[in-house]
Formats: sequence, C-alpha cells, structure tokens
Amino acid sequence: MRKTLLAIALLVLTAASGIAQDDASENCGAEALTRQQGAFAAYLTFDFANDAEQALANLFRLGALYQTMALDCGYQPNEVEIDRLLEQTLSFVSLDDLILAQAVGTDIDAILVELDEVYGDPLNGQLLYNGLEPALGGGTLGCAGCHENEAVAPLTAGAWTRVDAIRLTQPEFADYSHREYLVESIVQPMAYIPPDYAGLMPEIYGRQLTTQQLADLVAFLDSQDQLLEDG
Ligand code: HEC
Repeated sequence: MRKTLLAIALLVLTAASGIAQDDASENCGAEALTRQQGAFAAYLTFDFANDAEQALANLFRLGALYQTMALDCGYQPNEVEIDRLLEQTLSFVSLDDLILAQAVGTDIDAILVELDEVYGDPLNGQLLYNGLEPALGGGTLGCAGCHENEAVAPLTAGAWTRVDAIRLTQPEFADYSHREYLVESIVQPMAYIPPDYAGLMPEIYGRQLTTQQLADLVAFLDSQDQLLEDG
C-alpha cells in the first residue's frame, strides 16, 4: 500500500510540475543532469518581495521538477522522505481521489493505447479474478463469484473461445479485436449484454483496476481457450 501511495503521490507531483516523465530518463549523465538542473533554476524566478504568490508557486515547481529528475534517474526516497511526501500529498488530495487517479477509467480507446505498453501477466490476472490479490484501494474483485455459475454469468472456462467463436462473429463486433471486446466487457459491461443475461455485472471496474491489473485480467481471460460444451 505504501508503495502504491508513493507512486500516486509522485504522479500527482509530476502532474503538478507539468513536465512529462517520458523523455526524462534518457538524460541521466553528469553533464545532462547539471545542464537540466541549471536550466530549471534559471527558468523560474523568485521575486519574493514583489510577487510572493508567483514566487511560492515557482518554489514549489522547482522542488517538484528536481524530485522528478532525481526519481527518473533512479533515486530511491528513504522512509522519512516517503512519509513526508505522503503527508504533504494527502493534505491537499483525498485518498479516494489519489486512488481514482491510478484507475484505468472507462475510455476504451485510451485504455487500448495504454494496454499496448503493458505486459499482462495471466497468473496475476487469475489471482485478481479469484479475489486472492487485492485490486486498487485494497478491496478484492468478485469476478469468479459470478462467473463460475453459468446461470449467473458467462462461464470463465472457455471465455476466450466464446468471444472468438460467438461474440466476435456478430455483425456489431465486426471491427472488434478480442482485447477490445474483453476490455469493454470489463469496464463498460452494459455496452453489450449477451442473450440470456440481465445486465448484472457491476459498472465499477474502471475505478477499481490499474492499467496493469486490467492487462493481467485480459491475459488471464485470453488463456481461457477451453472448448465450449454446447457450441
Ligand atoms: C455480479 C456478478 C458479476 C461480477 C462480480 C462480474 N461479472 Fe462479468 N459478467 C456478469 C454478467 C451477468 C455478464 C453478462 C453481461 C450482463 O448481463 O451484465 C458478464 C459479462 C462479462 C464478460 C463478457 C463475457 C462474454 O461472454 O461476453 C467478461 C469478459 C466479464 N464479465 C469479465 C468479468 C471480470 C474480469 C470481472 C471482475 C473484474 C467480472 N466480470 C465481474 C456478471 C458479473
């Protein structure tokens, strides 16, 4: 939990600094670091006498920029620094909002782009699915509870085969990939309700899963390629 919170806290700080993390890690040599450090300091002005508000904002930004720089280049904060960071972050963002900031959301197109960058681990997906591994916020998912009983929900066993052989052969899914179908089923379950079901799947998973956890669940479902009993 502490680690997750730290990651979230740092995300918030990075977002606050307005600097994309992407290209930072390329430049961690002594020269590049010196140049970057100087550039940040020169860019931000500190006129405490005449514009205290702006100066404070810049002070905050410079600190965040430096922290991001250090983290991107491999600095590992110690316990005291982590506690301080968490305390500060929680003083202006609620824990719920922090957790939500980590969640995958419900925008399918955006999620599919994010998933391209992530390797899904089917074993971890299985643990999540069976409630043996906590999801975002510490609670467990109830997937298996419903999906073990065909009268309640489409069965887990054969899920991939069913998507492949039945769902995706329907005209409305002509341009869907397996991944898109599964992602939509999980974060927007009401988008399509298969025959014989009543729309019981909760619309909460966009708020309970990180991108990594969703990738793991999809990888687990992809492994469910058993033959279908009646089809
Ligand atoms: C309360 C019961 C319930 C829970 C909990 C639940 N589901 Fe479902 N799920 C359903 C039902 C019912 C459907 C069929 C659509 C409907 O009626 O809502 C469904 C549909 C699906 C489908 C599409 C299957 C198909 O053949 O088209 C997938 C994939 C899926 N669920 C995955 C999950 C995952 C992953 C979780 C956990 C994160 C989960 N479900 C949690 C009840 C549930």
